[in-house]
Formats: sequence, structure tokens, C-alpha cells
Amino acid sequence: MPNNKTVVSQEQIAHQYEYMQFIARMNEDKAQVRGQRPKAFTQTFGCQQNEADTQRIAGMLDEMGYEKTDRTEDADVIVINTCAVRAHAESRALGNVGALSHLKKARPEVTICLCGCMVQQEHMPDKIKKSYPQVDLVFGTHALWRFPELLYRRLTGDKRVFDISGDAAGYIAEGLPVLRDGGTKAWLSIMYGCNNFCTYCIVPYVRGRERSRAPEEIVHELEQLVADGYKDITLLGQNVNSYGKDLDEQIDFSDLLMRLNEVPGDFLLRFMTSHPKDASHKLFDTMATCDKVAKQLHLPFQSGSDTVLKRMNRGYTAEHYRELIAYARSKMPDISLSSDIIVGFPGETEEDFEKTRTLVAEVGFDMLYTFLYSKRSGTPAAEMPDDTTHAVKQARFERLLKTQDETVQARQDAYQGKRLRVLVDGMSKGTEYPLTARTEGGLLVCCAGDDLKIGEFADVEIEKTSLRCLFGRSV
Ligand code: SAH
Ligand code: SF4
Ligand code: F3S
Repeated sequence: MPNNKTVVSQEQIAHQYEYMQFIARMNEDKAQVRGQRPKAFTQTFGCQQNEADTQRIAGMLDEMGYEKTDRTEDADVIVINTCAVRAHAESRALGNVGALSHLKKARPEVTICLCGCMVQQEHMPDKIKKSYPQVDLVFGTHALWRFPELLYRRLTGDKRVFDISGDAAGYIAEGLPVLRDGGTKAWLSIMYGCNNFCTYCIVPYVRGRERSRAPEEIVHELEQLVADGYKDITLLGQNVNSYGKDLDEQIDFSDLLMRLNEVPGDFLLRFMTSHPKDASHKLFDTMATCDKVAKQLHLPFQSGSDTVLKRMNRGYTAEHYRELIAYARSKMPDISLSSDIIVGFPGETEEDFEKTRTLVAEVGFDMLYTFLYSKRSGTPAAEMPDDTTHAVKQARFERLLKTQDETVQARQDAYQGKRLRVLVDGMSKGTEYPLTARTEGGLLVCCAGDDLKIGEFADVEIEKTSLRCLFGRSV
């Protein structure tokens, strides 16, 4: 079903490049006077999608002539890219913005920008207007591609600029610059937005409807990433399994994976997130046959209780989830599995919770991300009766972590003595195993061996294990 997303025209993108050039000229003048280029600081809260967005913002800032800095004290422009998924993420971002008021008093010329999911919520502009006068520019997820224009307006005399406008159907903007961190890992967004409206979740409200990038744009970006030396590439979307549903061309996520697997080069493809309601046998068959696709699956189940899943509007049962895992393992016996879980959803009983704990113990995940339910205003779950106390929820959370740690440790121990292919990606803090690497399944390995090189694949034998890390030596 095509959605009525807006594909931003190349003419509009060209306009944004003009704004970037205007600012670059202003920055050249500043650099002449000061003897150094103006600097920009960025900070990201939230998921990989937000990190990918920040890399686009960093690309635009670079094009505008800003040098990167890690210190807010040195920055001419500060951009904080926010998340709204849980209250904690919001309070951290707002806390950081609050702390910038001193800096703004000392250096009123610094431009403070706040963007991303948190500010896209309806009530936010008012709150920022009233309580955070140090913020100069606020732009939501739909206005990201207009950042150069908005910054230009602020720099050339506009009062505080707020832009959280935009159609919830959403935008696709191709051709803007991206500045990645270098190294081995890269994010590659294949689609934006979400249509699922899980009842606890704010994402569909702040990211708009699902929209897929054209396959040829994705192939092209992957080719460039491989040419630039990236070897560990993660395809991003809130629900990659519904890739292509909004395109005219008949293509689904498995077809896309097959096309990307054809791109020449020595690299690994990962993807996240998969939704159990749309994960198909075809996907697992495809993963099993594509040599560049990592045998790794992040498949969040959220709860092991069917009544809770129903109230969450997840669209599958715990039994269906078990079947999917069994099928994936039958095709890829060594597959690495991870999941997200919410504890303390409104109305969750002791019995519901035990079903979640049983599922965790039963499946044997390699990694788990467990969250305490956080009420998000505007979502249906925020209106559901929720009479379980915080203390009870916290106690459940801790019990689940214990089960989770036991099962994860058992999975880690099973790697003892095994030989694994890893991609060496950085330096560790230890001396005995001085390098870090990732297995195909995405597990962290601290490793040693004179022949190991950052950015290259190698074979290691696992000598010992801990909950969060395997330790290996090259063979
Ligand atoms: N699109 C992904 C998840 C994106 S949000 C998916 O559907 O799997 C990442 C995780 O945050 C979710 O999987 C969920 O476990 C958690 N989460 C989302 N909203 C939450 C809330 N209101 N409270 C607690 N955790 C939440
Ligand atoms: Fe949120 Fe559900 Fe969409 Fe994931 S699939 S982003 S949990 S609404
Ligand atoms: Fe991601 Fe947070 Fe937005 S999880 S999509 S940055 S609300």
C-alpha cells in the first residue's frame, strides 16, 4: 500500500545546500578573524536511528564549515538530538539542556539546538519556550532535512526558531551529507517511521508513518560504505520486516537482503529491528543462504503473556514467537538471539510476569534489553488502569535480570574452547586481551594475538568467558 509520504525534491535539497554554503561563507569570515574554524558539538539520546540522524546533522555541520568538538565550552553550535521512548531519556536530555544555561549566559552568541523525537511531541514547544530560554532552535524529526535553512534563519537574526511542523505521513530526503565516525561500523537506514502503534509506544507519534527508501538508493549507499572500508553494516528501521510495503515496486525485506548480499566486498550485514508479527519463514531462509548476512536476530517479544501482548497491540502470541525461534534455529543452529522486554506494563499480574520469565529461561538469549514500563502521555496504555506499585514492578525487574544473567552466562560459557570468526574493531581497556572484536552474532570479544589488525576479520579461540564479554586468542 503506497503511503502518501513526501519525497523531498532535489530542488529543495539543492536549496538546503545553498543555505549550507551561506553559513560556510559566514564561518570562513569568522575563521579569518579568530584564526580557527568555528566548532560544533553534537549529542545523541535514544536508538540507532537517532544516531544515524545525528550523523546526517554532523554531515550538514561539516558542510557548513564547522569543526567537530567534544566540549560544549568550545562550541559555537550545540545540537542535542533527543529521545522520548521512556521518561528517563527525556529527563536526561532536559537535564543537559538545563545545565547549558550557564554557558549561554557566559557566551550568548552560542547557538543551542534541540531536535529529534522528544521535541516532536505536541506539548514540548510550549514547555521549552517557557522553561528553557537558552534554547535557540527546536526542530522535530520531520524537519531534519531543513536544518541548514533553520540554522541560517537563527544566525541571521530570527528570534528563537521552532519547527515541529510536518505531515505525519513523513518525508524521504535523499542526497544530504552524512558524517560517520570512521572505524568498521556503519548504520544504514532503509526505512523510517512506524505503523504499529504498540499501545505503550511513542515512536509512531514522533516519527510518522512507515516509509521505505528506494532499493537502488540503499544499494548505492551500501556500495559507498564498502568502498569507504566499512565492514560491519547495520540496516535500520523500526520494523524492517515491513520494508517495501509502501513502494510501488514489488519488493520485501528478504528480496532487499538478497540484493544487498550481491554487493561485492568483504563485509557483514546486520539489521534491526524485526517485529515478530511480520518476521517470515522466507526471511529466515534468506538469512541462512546469504553469506554476508550475519546469523543474528534481534526479535523483541516484550511479554510472554498473551493477555499482555494483546493489550500491547503486538499482534502475535507467545506460541507464535516460540515457533519463529524454533524455525530460525532449525535453519541457523548457531544463530545469536536477542530481545527487548517490558516489565510492569499496566495490569501485568504475577502470573503474566512469570510467563515472561519462563520464556526468557526457555529460549536462551545471547543478549536481552529489559525495560521498566514508562508511561508516555498520548499513548493508549497511559489511559489503562495501572495499580501495581513501583516497588512490586522493580522487584519483578530484578528477578528477571537474575534469570536473564543466568541464561546469558550459560550461553557465553558454551563458547568456551570454540573457534569463532570475528571482526576486530578497536582497543579494549585490558592489557591481557588488548583488542575488541565482534562475532558474527554481535557478541563482544576481547582478544589477543600479534597478527590481529583493527578493521580486519580474524579467527580466534575462546579461552574464557564473562557475562558481557568473551576472551579469545588468534589462531
Ligand atoms: N521498533 C522496535 C522497538 C523500538 S523502541 C520494536 O518494535 O521492537 C525499543 C524498545 O523500547 C522496545 O522494544 C520496548 O521494549 C521499549 N519501549 C518502548 N516504549 C516503552 C515504554 N513506554 N516503556 C518502556 N519501554 C518501552
Ligand atoms: Fe514502538 Fe511497536 Fe513501532 Fe516498535 S513496532 S517502534 S515498539 S510502536
Ligand atoms: Fe529512537 Fe527514542 Fe526516537 S528510541 S525512534 S530516538 S523515541
